[in-house]
Amino acid sequence: MKGRVSTSFRSHSCGELNERHVGKDVTLSGWVSHVRDHGELIFIDLRDRYGITQVVFDSKNKEIFEKAKKLRNEFVVQIKGRVKKRPKGTENPKLKTGKIEVHANEINILSKADVLPFELDSRTEVSEELRLKYRYLDLRTQRMQRNLIFKHKFLEATREYFFKNNFIELHTPLLTKSTPEGARDFLVPSRLHPGKFYALPQSPQLFKQIFMVSGFDRYFQIAYCLRDEDLRADRQYEFLQIDLEMSFVDVDDVLKMLDGYIAYVMEKLMGVKIKLPLPRISYEEAMHRFGTDKPDMRFGMELIELTSLVKDFKFEIFDKVIKNGGAVYGLIAENALEKISKKFISKLEEKAKESNAKGLLTLKIGKTLEGVLAKNVAEAKLKTMLKKIKAKKGDILFIVADEKQIAQEALGNIRVMLAKELNIIPKNRWEFVWVVDFPLFEWSDEEQRWKSMHHPFTMPRDEDIPLLEKEPAKVKAKAYDLVLNGEELGGGSIRIHRPELQRKIFSLLKISKQEAEKKFGFLLEAFKYGAPPHGGIALGLDRFVAALLNEETIREVIAFPKNKAGESPMDGAPDYVNEKQLRELHIKLDETARGIKDAKKKTK
Ligand code: AMO
Repeated sequence: MKGRVSTSFRSHSCGELNERHVGKDVTLSGWVSHVRDHGELIFIDLRDRYGITQVVFDSKNKEIFEKAKKLRNEFVVQIKGRVKKRPKGTENPKLKTGKIEVHANEINILSKADVLPFELDSRTEVSEELRLKYRYLDLRTQRMQRNLIFKHKFLEATREYFFKNNFIELHTPLLTKSTPEGARDFLVPSRLHPGKFYALPQSPQLFKQIFMVSGFDRYFQIAYCLRDEDLRADRQYEFLQIDLEMSFVDVDDVLKMLDGYIAYVMEKLMGVKIKLPLPRISYEEAMHRFGTDKPDMRFGMELIELTSLVKDFKFEIFDKVIKNGGAVYGLIAENALEKISKKFISKLEEKAKESNAKGLLTLKIGKTLEGVLAKNVAEAKLKTMLKKIKAKKGDILFIVADEKQIAQEALGNIRVMLAKELNIIPKNRWEFVWVVDFPLFEWSDEEQRWKSMHHPFTMPRDEDIPLLEKEPAKVKAKAYDLVLNGEELGGGSIRIHRPELQRKIFSLLKISKQEAEKKFGFLLEAFKYGAPPHGGIALGLDRFVAALLNEETIREVIAFPKNKAGESPMDGAPDYVNEKQLRELHIKLDETARGIKDAKKKTK
């Protein structure tokens, strides 16, 4: 504990007392977390944020003993008493205060508590919905206290590092115009400007670039970002980013700064020494070896390209794919033959289809070879291939033949599923990796145009600028993602700071002059008045903290998250508003919208 917590209500916290305090008179305040009535003695565990202290009431002190009998779980009480050593054999080594107890001579009930809707610290039996409805109780549990306090410490260390490196914390507005991250905006209607809307920021992107134009060469912010996208375990509508931007830098400078940051927080908070520099892998290599731009490097089981090895198999599926410029990829699940069931293989097949692949081929390597391939391809050919890729008896080879990216992605997903099933992912390993050299553009079939893979302000690699018009697919970006154990923690890029290059990119993206002017005009205008070369990154704070705490979802590290349906069961958001508010905003609700009629009744 850093400072003392004494106030008019308490002399010490409930986690502070030890043998050195024996004989002292103390005052504690906190929640009753357990009452044990032993006839002549009543014991309570008194709890606060700092810990638990055992308090003893003796029947010899009749008045307060009677009061103690009335105590129930979660009452808030103030206790005055003397610290005593616990009798031999009754110490509790699990508690920091386990060698002492406080013998009460005064008790004040500060507030009572109803019977709780669920028992604290019995989370397995409690639904998440109930936990979110009574979040204030859920936040009293050890696990949630640990999570939020860890998050605070993480923020403290984060600020320490960046402040030491000359970053300054600046704030950007919440009521803004739309930003270019590409998710759906949350809109806020303007009362004074009927028909106009503010957009809540998907990130501080444009403003942090403006800070660079203004000369604040190292900007930092723990920024709220809001995106109206489908919620998942690692996605919330509102989340925090560790957002930064630097002037006079290229890719290497930003990555080095972040390497130092990762090493700093990992050592300070986890006691883990990270070897620097963090590994870097190109997007192309990540896709080729792991079938994803978020490779989990804690285990091997890498993809193997089989295109050239299967081209003379005379197997129709392969021939067709290869003829159309596709690829054949494989994945060896070592010793899986005994370990995975038929049912699980069907699940893998489903996953392959979900990943847009037409199918998944399975070659079981037992006493004989089994599977569609074994029936259709000469055994000798198959054996030659298996030897080349070092597949052995007891393994299963999974194959996807499709468009190259589809084949890679499908097997990438299967790789992760298999690793979990085969239990080959080591625990307590922190494998950070930079994915670099992303393509600048990706083709959108739906819109029949090139789209930015990161965002339209991302700088192409210097050597690729001449390819922009002729071969846009080949242009690589000065963009980078930071990945931890297969999860994207953050992404960023070096930005375009020269208006003529920016115009060219907009035109390739089919963003018209008018549209660019309307959306980002202020940034383009700012660039006319002397913009330094600059770049930055944003890390998802909630994701990072959840990963370090081994939590499955970021909801576990956010005090008041939305549930999967985007609602807050505790305060009831989102909610209907009354007619007057809507009138002031010049908003008329569509009568066909579900629930509107009920809403009117409710808010009249
Ligand atoms: P990007 O959109 O990649 O980049 O976001 C950066 C990181 O923010 C986290 N993140 C989320 N976390 C929780 N819930 C969400 N809905 C969510 N969406 C994103 C992820 C992600 O890696 N302006 C750029 C950064 C830059 O170029 O500097 C940006 O926002 O961890």
